[in-house]
Amino acid sequence: MPQQIKRLIIAFASIFVLFLIMQQVLKPDSFGEIGHYRSKSIQENKMRVLHYAGSESCIKCHEEIHLEKSSGFHATLKCEVCHGPSMKHVQYADQFEGGELPDSLILNKPGEREDCLICHQSHAARTKIVFDSIDNSVIKQIDNLKHNPVNKKTKEALKCIDCHYPHQP
Ligand code: HEC
Ligand code: HEC
Ligand code: HEC
Ligand code: HEC
Repeated sequence: MPQQIKRLIIAFASIFVLFLIMQQVLKPDSFGEIGHYRSKSIQENKMRVLHYAGSESCIKCHEEIHLEKSSGFHATLKCEVCHGPSMKHVQYADQFEGGELPDSLILNKPGEREDCLICHQSHAARTKIVFDSIDNSVIKQIDNLKHNPVNKKTKEALKCIDCHYPHQP
């Protein structure tokens, strides 16, 4: 065998041995116990805090709003799309029924024009957003500057929710 090939074999063999050693040293201890991943990652993910509760969980305490929403244009929007992650609220709000909620359970109430325009603003770069799965297949878009921006008498800025009820717009 020519000498240069021998040297190459030695070089490759030592890289391979180094690889095996490094693999043993660096491999996380629970790797490979169940499959080609760290089995401890299952435990770690289970321990993560849940932030979203899902719309079904709101019905128990806010049935009226749920019914209003279900029969209107916003039927397909989930409550938490507008009100934000609500897990803590769902878990603890019933202790404060009829009273005032502590700050940590108060949810976002997105009533500014910008909040609605996230979905309803028309602009050149936005083609109509199409949802295949619902009957109202296109979100109606308005021109923010033309669509009732101010109260003609008082000249104050009108909010969308002055005219549109968000749960049944
Ligand atoms: C266990 C009962 C319960 C559940 C479940 C619940 N809420 Fe509430 N929620 C309350 C109570 C109590 C209040 C305080 C006002 C009241 O008495 O209606 C409240 C108030 C609110 C408010 C108004 C807060 C404010 O600042 O005025 C919003 C918005 C709200 N809930 C949204 C939701 C959403 C979204 C869900 C589902 C993810 C939900 N809630 C689930 C009991 C509940
Ligand atoms: C399109 C966004 C949007 C969605 C979707 C939505 N909300 Fe609201 N919600 C609002 C806004 C905006 C307000 C504040 C209204 C106001 O100040 O007049 C509000 C207010 C509330 C309030 C306070 C009481 C009231 O009637 O003003 C409760 C409770 C509430 N929402 C619960 C829900 C629940 C439960 C769902 C799902 C069934 C839901 N919301 C879905 C935007 C939304
Ligand atoms: C996450 C996206 C989203 C947000 C935020 C949102 N909407 Fe909508 N809206 C929709 C969808 C989807 C529909 C149903 C399709 C349609 O009719 O445009 C709709 C329908 C409507 C309609 C009926 C349009 C028609 O067909 O006549 C009105 C009015 C409306 N929304 C007002 C509002 C107002 C006011 C707000 C703010 C409080 C708001 N929307 C926030 C997604 C959104
Ligand atoms: C002064 C009351 C008023 C205000 C404020 C207002 N709207 Fe309207 N909106 C209406 C009326 C009335 C209609 C139905 C007649 C029409 O199509 O113009 C309408 C229609 C709509 C439609 C359906 C448009 C279509 O093509 O059928 C959408 C979407 C809408 N509004 C969203 C909004 C949003 C988002 C805001 C805030 C940025 C807003 N509106 C503010 C009164 C209002």
